[in-house]
This record gives sequence, C-alpha cells and structure tokens, in this order.
Amino acid sequence: MPAGEGRDLRPVAACQPFMSNLPSGREVKDVKAVTLVERVTHSPEETIKFGREAAGYFHPPCLVLLEGDLGAGKTTLTKGIVAGLGAASEDEVTSPTFTLVHEYGSANSVFHVDLYRIEGERDLATLGLDELSNQTSTVLVEWGEKLGDNVPLPCFKVRMEHQESDNRRILIERLEA
Ligand SMILES: Nc1ncnc2c1ncn2[C@@H]1O[C@H](COP(=O)(O)OP(=O)(O)O)[C@@H](O)[C@H]1O
Ligand SMILES: [Mg+2]
Repeated sequence: MPAGEGRDLRPVAACQPFMSNLPSGREVKDVKAVTLVERVTHSPEETIKFGREAAGYFHPPCLVLLEGDLGAGKTTLTKGIVAGLGAASEDEVTSPTFTLVHEYGSANSVFHVDLYRIEGERDLATLGLDELSNQTSTVLVEWGEKLGDNVPLPCFKVRMEHQESDNRRILIERLEA
C-alpha cells in the first residue's frame, strides 16, 4: 500500500490519553527532537536484533510512538524491543491490530498498542492509554502519529521507512520539552 493510502491519519487525540501531565497551550515548536540512533536493516531478523539493542533506551515509565506505513516493520521491531526489555520472547509478540492492546511481562509490564483501527476520540478513550502508563510500564504504540502532538514529554519516537526490497530505515528520537 502506498504511503498513507486509505488511512485517516488526522490526530484523534483531544481526549486526554497520557495528557494529565501536559502543560496547556504547548506548541509544536516547543518540542525538541534529539536523534538517538539511526540504522538501515536488511531483514526482519536484523530488525528484531536492533529492537533488542534499542530497548536499552527505554526505561519505564516510558512511552514509545512507532510511526511508519503498513509493512514498515513496526510489529517486527516491537518483537525485539519486548524481548530486549525481558517481558516476553520475540515469538510471543504478535500484532495487536484487532485486539488493540497486548500486555507482556508482569513486574515491568510492556503494553503493545496498535492504533491502526482507531477512528475517533471515543475509540481512543476506551483504550485507556493513560491508565497503561503507570510507574513501571513501557507503552509501545504502533501508528503513534495518530496521537498528534498531544503526548507527554519526554517520550520516544521511532520512525520506520520501507526502502527498496527488504531494507528498512529506522530512526529513534527522544522528544523533549
Ligand atoms: N528489514 C526488515 N525489517 C522488518 N520487516 C521486514 C524487513 N524486511 C522485510 N520485512 C517484512 O516486512 C513485514 C513487516 O511487517 P510488520 O512488522 O507487521 O509491519 P507493520 O507493523 O509496520 O505493519 C514483515 O512481513 C517482515 O517479514
Ligand atoms: Mg503492525
């Protein structure tokens, strides 16, 4: 599917997920994006391996927004991140496209969310994202761009891009106030 086709990527977040600690009136220009790492992978296995490494950046409580088109590799990368965080093995991690949220691990739980099918504020509110982001959890959100600018800072943004054949470009940024 070509970039963005068929999906409504307007932000659906005016609905308070993660927003209890948001200063009001923040503007996009107030957000600083610091590049942490950039990599091109050449296979799903390489992406999973990179996800394991990348897990080192994510200390709970932590929100990670995964952005990129269908097939960019968000779920594949998540397998590595969840394994790297020690919450589950990579084979246990499957796409939450239909279930919307999967939870892995117990003490330091990891929530894996997919907003692909989320279409409005009410849908988003029923997910209860703010309740997931407790003291000890890491929340990984596919189609994180659907939250728009209404995310608490600091958080992380992972941008994935399908290049030719099996190449994927992956950029991890830390978003700060
Ligand atoms: N370098 C790579 N990294 C990740 N996935 C890749 C790569 N090369 C090919 N693929 C394939 O692309 C698809 C990515 O799917 P998935 O991770 O579900 O994407 P998304 O969650 O972004 O829709 C998988 O079928 C995977 O095997
Ligand atoms: Mg996916």
